[in-house]
Amino acid sequence: SWTMHNYVEEAVQAIREQVGDKKVLCALSGGVDSSVAAVLVHRAIGDNLTCMFVDHGLLRKHEADLVMETFADHFHMNVIRIDAKARFLNRLEGVTDPEKKRKIIGEEFIRVFEEESKKLGEFDFLAQGTLYTDIIESGTATAATIKSHHNVGGLPEDMQFDLVEPLKTLFKDEVRALGTELGLSDEIVWRQPFPGPGLAIRIIGAVTEEKLEILRDADFVVRDTIRKAGLERDIWQYFAVLPDIKSVGVMGDERTYAYTIAIRAVTSKDGMTADWARIPYDVLETLSVRLVNEVKGVNRVVYDITSKPPATIEWE
Ligand code: XMP
Repeated sequence: SWTMHNYVEEAVQAIREQVGDKKVLCALSGGVDSSVAAVLVHRAIGDNLTCMFVDHGLLRKHEADLVMETFADHFHMNVIRIDAKARFLNRLEGVTDPEKKRKIIGEEFIRVFEEESKKLGEFDFLAQGTLYTDIIESGTATAATIKSHHNVGGLPEDMQFDLVEPLKTLFKDEVRALGTELGLSDEIVWRQPFPGPGLAIRIIGAVTEEKLEILRDADFVVRDTIRKAGLERDIWQYFAVLPDIKSVGVMGDERTYAYTIAIRAVTSKDGMTADWARIPYDVLETLSVRLVNEVKGVNRVVYDITSKPPATIEWE
C-alpha cells in the first residue's frame, strides 16, 4: 500500500537518478513547498544541494531566523542567506501602485538570485517546490503571478537549468504529510500561505521601514493570538494589514493619532475562493486589546468581513 514512507524512498531514488553527482541549487522561501522540496532533495544528494535564501526584508517577524535554524542548524544543509533588504527598500521607495510593487519585487528577486548564484559557481539543476495544483492552475492570472515569484520564473536566457520538481504530483495536504515524515517542524509544515512580495503588499501605500516594523509586530500578535486560541488549522490565512489610515483615539488622558490595523482572516480550500472567518468575539476582543497595547503606533483595529470574491485575500 501507498505510504509517505514509501513515497520518500521512491522520490529519493528518482532524484538520484535524475541528478547523478551534479550540483543542484534551490531557492528557499521558508514556505512549506520549497522547504519540503529542499529537505527531500537534500535527503537524496546531501551536500550537492545548495540552498539560497533571499531575505528581501519583507518577511514576518523571526522568519529569516527560523529558516536558518531549521535548514542550516537542524538539517545541516548548505544554506546561503542573502541580506537584500536595502536593495528592495531602495527600489520600493515612494512606490504606491500595487502592481508596480509586485513587479519591482519580482524583478529584483530574479536579479539578486542571478547575481548571487553566479558567485556560488556552476549548477546544473534548479530544485523547485512546484505542486500539482501549480501546474493545473497555471493558466490563471493569479497563478501566473504566484509562479513568477515562487518558482523563480523568467530567469535570464543565459541561466539555463534543468528542473528538479519532486512535489509535482502532490497536493498541499500530501506535501504537509511528507514534510512531517521528513522531520520538518509543525511550524514550517503548517505554515499559512505567504505571498512572495511579502509584507510589501500588506502595506497600503509606500513601504517604509517604520511601517514594516508596525506591520511585523501586528502580524506577530495576530498569529500568536490565533495560535493560542487553537484556531490555527481552522483558518486558511490570518494576518494583519496596514492601511494608509491614521485616526484619533484616547489612551489614558492623552489624545492619540495613530495607525489602524485591519485583521484579515479567511477560510478556504485552495485560496481561489475564500470566506471571511467567523472568529469568536472573545478572540477578536483579545486581538483588539493586544494589537493596541503591544504594537506601538496603533490605536484602532478593524476586521475585514469581505469574502473572495468580490475581494481578494490580500489587499493588493
Ligand atoms: P489573492 O489575494 O489573489 O491571493 O486572493 C490568493 C492566494 O495567493 C497568495 N498570493 C501569493 N502567493 N506570490 C505568492 O507566492 C504572490 O505574489 C501572491 N499573491 C497572492 C495569497 O496569500 C493567497 O493565499
